[in-house]
Amino acid sequence: MYNSIYDSLNIGKKVIYLPSCHSTNDIAAELVHKGPVEEGTIVITDNQVGGRGQRGSKWYTEPSLNLTFSIILRPKFIPVAEQFLISQMAALAIYDYFSFYTNEVKIKWPNDIYISDKKISGTLIENSIQGASISYSIVGIGININQVNFSNPRSTSLALITGSMASLEVEFSKLVHSLDAGYLRLKSKLQQDHIRLSYLRHLHGYQQTISFLLKNEIVKGTVTDITKSGRLCIKFEGKNEIQEFGLKEIEFLWDK
Ligand code: BTN
Repeated sequence: MYNSIYDSLNIGKKVIYLPSCHSTNDIAAELVHKGPVEEGTIVITDNQVGGRGQRGSKWYTEPSLNLTFSIILRPKFIPVAEQFLISQMAALAIYDYFSFYTNEVKIKWPNDIYISDKKISGTLIENSIQGASISYSIVGIGININQVNFSNPRSTSLALITGSMASLEVEFSKLVHSLDAGYLRLKSKLQQDHIRLSYLRHLHGYQQTISFLLKNEIVKGTVTDITKSGRLCIKFEGKNEIQEFGLKEIEFLWDK
C-alpha cells in the first residue's frame, strides 16, 4: 500500500494504488482524458503486466519487488520546444535519490539512471501538446528496488547495491520528495539553467571519451552538450564539427 505524501507541494498529494494493471502510463492517460485530475497525482502498481519503455520497448519488472509509477503533470509554463527540461528534471531527481546510497550514479541520455555500468531506472515521458503549450505530461518511472535476478546482465537494483532489501513504501516516499523538489525548481525560470547544467555534469560521456555505435560502426567521441530540444551533441575523434543526434540515431557502448 502506498500513502499520499501530505508534506509535498505538488507531487504525490494524491496517490492511486492499483494492485495490478497493464501500464501506469496508460492508466494515467485514461484519467486525464476522463476529466480534471489534480496535478501531481500518481498512479502506482505492484504488478505492471504491460509496462512500456522508450523506443517501443517493453519494461519488465517482477511483481511486488520494484517501483512502477506514473505522475500526471501540467507543465504549461514550459515551451513545447523546451519540453526536454521535464526529462532532465526527472532524471536529476532520480539521480539525487540514488546519490544518497552511492557515488557511482550516472545519467545516460536521455533519462536512464545507471549505477556504474548497470541500469537501475528508466523513465518514459509522454507529453500531450495543445497549440504552443504542453497540456499535460505523464512521467512514468520504473525503479529496480528489491529484484535481484535479471535476465539482462546490464541491470541492477537498490538491493544489489546496498546488500539489503528495502521498504518499497519508504523508498517511494523518498523518491516523491526528490521529484517534488525537482518540479519546484523546474517552475522557476532561474533554476532551469541550473537543471540543464547539473544534468550535463552527471551525464555519461560528458567531457569524456566513450564509445558509440553509429550506423553499425564503433566510434569514439565526447558528449559536448544537449540542445534545448534534447538532442545529443557529440564530437567524434578525428572530426572537427559537432554532430547532433536524436533517439534511435546512436547507441552507447559500455565495453569498448
Ligand atoms: C525505459 O527505460 O525504456 C523506460 C521505462 C519506463 C517504465 C515505466 S514503469 C512505470 C511507467 N509505466 C509504463 O508502462 N512505463 C513506465
